[in-house]
This record gives sequence, C-alpha cells and structure tokens, in this order.
Amino acid sequence: MGHLVIQGGIPLRGKVKVNGSKNASLPIIAAALLTGEPVIIEGVPDLLDVRTMIAVLEGLGAAVDYAEEQALLRIASGELPPAAPPADLVSRMRASFLVLGPLLARNKKVSLPLPGGCAIGTRPVDLHLKGLTAMGASFSIVNGCVEGHTAGLRGARIYLDFPSVGATENIMMAATLAAGTTVLENAATEPEIVDLANCLNSMGAQVVGAGTAHIRIEGVPRLGGTRHAVIPDRIEAGTLMLAGVITGGDLIVENVLPDHLKPLLAKLIEAGAVVEEIDSTAIRAAAGARTAAVDLKTMPHPGFSTDLQPQFMVLLALAEGTGTVTETVFENRFRHVEGLSSMGARIRVEGRRAIVQGQPRLSGAPVVAPDLRGAAALLLAGLAAQGETKLLQAEHLWRGYCRLEERLALLGAQLERISAGRERAVHTGS
Ligand code: UD1
Repeated sequence: MGHLVIQGGIPLRGKVKVNGSKNASLPIIAAALLTGEPVIIEGVPDLLDVRTMIAVLEGLGAAVDYAEEQALLRIASGELPPAAPPADLVSRMRASFLVLGPLLARNKKVSLPLPGGCAIGTRPVDLHLKGLTAMGASFSIVNGCVEGHTAGLRGARIYLDFPSVGATENIMMAATLAAGTTVLENAATEPEIVDLANCLNSMGAQVVGAGTAHIRIEGVPRLGGTRHAVIPDRIEAGTLMLAGVITGGDLIVENVLPDHLKPLLAKLIEAGAVVEEIDSTAIRAAAGARTAAVDLKTMPHPGFSTDLQPQFMVLLALAEGTGTVTETVFENRFRHVEGLSSMGARIRVEGRRAIVQGQPRLSGAPVVAPDLRGAAALLLAGLAAQGETKLLQAEHLWRGYCRLEERLALLGAQLERISAGRERAVHTGS
C-alpha cells in the first residue's frame, strides 16, 4: 500500500509526452501466444498491469525480455505453452483473460480462473465464451475456473450483444488461426482494436474491418513473428489534458493522435477550455475562463470513454453551473464520488447518473483511491484543490500511469510518494 501527498492549487504548465497505450499493449502481449516466433513490441509502458501480463506469459513458459527504459518488449512463446497460466496472476487482473482466445487457438485446451481487476461492476465474460462457443469451443466453470477445449476452432458468424472490447479482442485473436471465415458483428471499434488487428496482420493474419462494427477474419494455418509499435495512450493523454485545464494551467501534450481524442476534445471545447491542435501529434489544453458545466454520457467508442469519466467529473465539480454524468458502460463506476465529496464537491448519484453542482474551489482532504481511473480523478482533484490531499491506496495509479508523479512534478506539481516500505520520494516543480 502506498500513498501520495499532494500540495494543491498550482497551475500545471509545460510540455509532457504521452506513453504507449496500456490497453493496446495488453492484448498485443497476449497475441504473442499465437506464434512460436519472436514478437517485438515497441512503446510498452512500465506499469503494474503490463508486469502482470508479462508474468502470465512467463508462467506459460514464454521467454520474455523487457527493456523498460526503452519500452521494448520481446516475447518468444516457443512451442505450445501449457494450458493453465498461474491462477493468482490471472485473478489479479481482468485483462489476463485475453490469453483465453490465443491459448484455445494454439492449444485447443485452456483453464483460466475467472478474472479480477478494478472493482467497477460485475464485469462478466459471457460474450467472450459465447463467441468462442460459436467457433466450436466448449466451456464449463469448475471451482471458479473456466475450463475450455475444442477439437479445432472454425470460423463463425458472431453477433455481440454489446460491443465488448475484451470479447472482440479474444474472438479476433482466436479467429486468426480458426479454419475458415469469422464475421464479428457489433464489434467494439476502439482504437486499441485497430492496433491489435494491425499487429495480427503484421504476423500474417487476415483481419479486415477493425475499427468498424463489422470485422471479418479469414483464418490462416499459422502466424509468424513481428515487430510492432503500439499507439499512444489516449486515456493517459486525456488525463493529462484534464490536469492542465482543471488546475487552471496550460499544457502541451505530445505523442497523441487527436482522432482518438475527439469525444474528449469536443467536451472540453463545449465546457469553454482552450484546446488547440499544435500539429498532428500534439495538443495544447489550457484553462480559459472558469469552465462551464456540460452534460456527459459514456458510450462505447466513438462515444465518450468511460475511462475518462471520473477525471472529467472533477472538471464539472469545479465548473460554473450544474452538469450531469451518465455512465452507460459500467454499472458501478462512481466510487470516486465519495472522495470528491469529502474535498467539497457537490455530487448526487441517482442510479447511473451523477448530478454535479460546480463549486468555485475544492479543498484538500485524505481520500482513498477506489480503482485505477478513480485514483486519477482524485489525484487531479488534489492538484486543483486548496491545501493538502493525501491519496491513499495510490498504487491503483501505478497499474495504469507510468512515472506519473515525476512527470507532473516537471509541470510544476508538488507531490510526494510514500510507498509501502515508507521510502519517500519528493517531487516538486522547482
Ligand atoms: C476494456 C478496457 C477498459 C475499458 C473498457 C470499456 C482493457 C484492458 N480494458 O475493458 O479500460 O474501461 O474496455 O471501454 O482494454 N461485458 C459483459 N459481458 C462480457 C464482456 C463485457 O457483460 O462478456 C460488459 C462489462 O461488464 C461492462 C461492459 O460490457 O459492463 C464493457 O466491458 P468491455 O468492453 O468488455 O471492457 P473490458 O474489455 O473489460
């Protein structure tokens, strides 16, 4: 357990570079199980979730070499890995369930504990299993584990009841090695799906239509190695932009793909923030006058990302007027509201809707990070608030943000990380 102590009220200024995407890296690491040949991935951020995924692959017998300073990962999974990765690792992180499709496709057999992860709802895996069942797999749940086997996967026409990101990725990966053609309808269209498809295609797969709701995969007998660079992390980019606006600062956020950030940029502009595309990979985000309240609804891509909802709520907590946040993707993603309220925010939750009455200021307080993006929201609130905020269970942040404190300090923030071993690292802007 670690925590952060933040001295708030300092506008963030300067330039900051975004890392490679966590949510693109994790499925691409799992995709390395589809081939025995080396897969080299560039831009892999050094995060707890990435380390967990690496450990899952190592537990399966893959040879992994991670040069974290260069963000370069090399995986060689060799001949068929064993079917069951280490249970404790898989239950720690939901994304480790992404090895399901690759293992079934290559091994014809798999045993995986039901996944863990952020406590933001029940998050079932029924869509993953339904899709793979249509492709000729059979599953049973035994003692909390998903046991799956197949005589050989075959192409199928699959309609997802909801455009689940993970189910789209698992089915897409499995289909690359299935016999025949798989057509996935109502597929997720997130940029990370496109990045995975690009990586799979560079390994010899035939995936067409990723980024649309209709993906077609022609199975091939085998895939080979590749070298692939992951896309920039749009959630980290959005979090940093919001940090600039919420603290009344002025940031240039580099290594971004503005197309991936359209829903956030539109809402920032609607709220009256200054947003300027400097060039095709850099965006300036700054506070104009006090931001105005807006209404927000999370949706699958290209709607507003649920992963930026908690951070945007902080902007609304400080905006002029009353705005609403409707969460449609996860059923329990308002756990950051408690911490924000103890900092003076006025938020009323009614089912899946939060009504946020903007206040002129927040004040520092001890708060507990409930999950990864909730932790980011409370950190942003702490940066903007008057006085000191102590963010407990800050390790949630380290699951998804790489060296965030150091990078914020370079922008002027004053914060101190106190890790479980009581070792202190002070980061100040001076
Ligand atoms: C991924 C992202 C996560 C993001 C989410 C939605 C990664 C590693 N994580 O998570 O950061 O918040 O997309 O953009 O990429 N569902 C079902 N049945 C299923 C699968 C999902 O009901 O079989 C439901 C979930 O409970 C949830 C919703 O669908 O309510 C969205 O889940 P999904 O899109 O699958 O998210 P993840 O892939 O887990």
